[in-house]
Amino acid sequence: MAHVSDLISVDIDKYLDSHHHKSLLRFITCGSVDDGKSTLIGRLLYESKMLFEDQLAALEADSKKVGTQGGELDFALLVDGLSAEREQGITIDVAYRFFSTDKRKFIVADTPGHEQYTRNMATGASTADVAVILIDARKGVLTQTRRHSFIVSLLGIRKVVLAINKMDLMDYSEQVYDGILADYRVFAQKIGITDITPIPLSALRGDNMTERSPHTPWYAGPTLMDYLETVEVEEYALEQPFRLPVQWVNRPNLDFRGFSGLIAGGSIRPGDRIKVLPSARESTVTRIVTYDGDQESAIAGQSVTLTLADEIDISRGDIICKADAPAPVADQFEATLLWMSEENLIPGRPYLLKIGAKTVGASIAHPKYKVNVNTLEQLAAKTLELNEIGISNLNLDQPIAFDPYAENRETGGFILIDRLSNDTVGVGLINFALRRSQNVHWQALDLNKTVRAEQKGQKPAILWFTGLSGAGKSTIANLVEKKLYALGKHTYLLDGDNVRHGLNKDMGFTEADRIENIRRVAEVSKLMIDAGLIVLVSFISPFRAERQMARGLVQDGEFLEVFIDTPIAVAETRDPKGLYKKARAGEIKNFTGIDSPYEAPENAEIHIDTTSLSAEQAAEEIISALQKAGIV
Ligand code: ADX
Repeated sequence: MAHVSDLISVDIDKYLDSHHHKSLLRFITCGSVDDGKSTLIGRLLYESKMLFEDQLAALEADSKKVGTQGGELDFALLVDGLSAEREQGITIDVAYRFFSTDKRKFIVADTPGHEQYTRNMATGASTADVAVILIDARKGVLTQTRRHSFIVSLLGIRKVVLAINKMDLMDYSEQVYDGILADYRVFAQKIGITDITPIPLSALRGDNMTERSPHTPWYAGPTLMDYLETVEVEEYALEQPFRLPVQWVNRPNLDFRGFSGLIAGGSIRPGDRIKVLPSARESTVTRIVTYDGDQESAIAGQSVTLTLADEIDISRGDIICKADAPAPVADQFEATLLWMSEENLIPGRPYLLKIGAKTVGASIAHPKYKVNVNTLEQLAAKTLELNEIGISNLNLDQPIAFDPYAENRETGGFILIDRLSNDTVGVGLINFALRRSQNVHWQALDLNKTVRAEQKGQKPAILWFTGLSGAGKSTIANLVEKKLYALGKHTYLLDGDNVRHGLNKDMGFTEADRIENIRRVAEVSKLMIDAGLIVLVSFISPFRAERQMARGLVQDGEFLEVFIDTPIAVAETRDPKGLYKKARAGEIKNFTGIDSPYEAPENAEIHIDTTSLSAEQAAEEIISALQKAGIV
């Protein structure tokens, strides 16, 4: 049944080679089952006499066996779209279907059409060049048509096919078609979609799918297949400045050192002067190495390995640019976020941000607003829920090279990952870097942590006490500090209740406030480490994510988590401040252990069971642990 099956059986190498050199179009279909989406995709596959995926898979296995390296089918193309999500364990319901005609190869992302699947659509749209937006001719432009179009435009798809389907049920009426098109243009203009190709269709009957329909003599445009086979798409990435996000440093032996990745924009030749970001080191390209041998030039969309004239330090995640058109570098952005997790966005919480091959720490400010995707209304928001879209500022823990998403989808799009579960919780599109981040520079100082600590004759450290209210954290931390003082150590004790009298006076006990409370005290303890001190932090600090964030602020070995383990029943019997009693009576809300969670440490360096140790014994045990750790 496949249109090239003869070649496959006669000369597989030749087939693979011709297949390899066909251009590839990625598109997404948006619509619901009711609009006839499955029929449309089914017919495209059928009319193209597609190769089934398993046939292609078998083919690939064969081609590997016979070692046809150069002509190998690029199956990664099927799934590489947002493979990052896949690795991150999120279930996204997008089916990628592969088919080909004599002119082109196609990957169609087919996503469920219901409202709650915004994230699926966004995933499919993030790599598509063209969107086919389906409209049922009987119903015209619906809320979902607007939602789909908005997401399509947001994700940077510039070309839209308005597939006005089921024309057979409307007697192939030109008037109906014109009316729907006029409606759609009004909306599309608002969201910046200008390249619209409307096609009157009946997917079921095959009108204007691959053959011009005799029922629509008034229609002069292309059939759907004509359009898909001929639409130009590559030029955009080519016009962009050169960008090579480094996927890996290729060092098979001491004589060869290359930097490999997929070119995300522009073109490059040997002899071109390049700049590596964020380090800003420069060199010159000596070779462009590919599987098919060295090349004279390479362009966006190709996977290459570059070698350079100088031995400069480049690691995975860096971006190689041309020296005269480098990417901007910043650590604060405004971004558009699409939230993909059942758990709402928590402003201030440390997430991981993955952009290209680089992963950095990031926290997200309160959304400036969220967008009602059906009406485009901007609404005030404290958080983002599953499938919501909003605008927020982001803070990274280190500068990255990037482009605004509108200029380059590869270097301007990112995913957000929960630090603990490792799940993808959102995708983001960089709008622009905040100017303040560009105007605040790091001031180099002559004295550093090492000399400050040397002067005090000690190794700086953070002892992070965590545990329930009334667990005994402050009592034990107080004893430990006295012992350290007696040993001649320079210390400071940051106690939750006390810090809440000053620096954190504005913080309550909601989840968001506790996160900010901990973020601030973590930053303060980092400054104190820099001053060469041994810092004792005694905060409930109920969430693992923030304790992990605090740990990440300092160097390995400088952060020791001390879990003051007191069961809630015991803490409640002690109730030194009478707070449990009040909480049980409903006079205090969000009380840890009662109506607010406590996430116990899983791998604390020091674990103190207060039911079997007195405070004095606990303090002794901590001091001996510090001796073992080389801190005293
Ligand atoms: S944390 O959760 O944000 O780390 P922190 O250690 O600063 O808490 O403050 C906890 C202290 O605040 C408790 O020891 C207790 O004295 C007091 N407190 C008042 N209200 C609450 C509450 N709702 N939950 C926990 N502690 C509370």
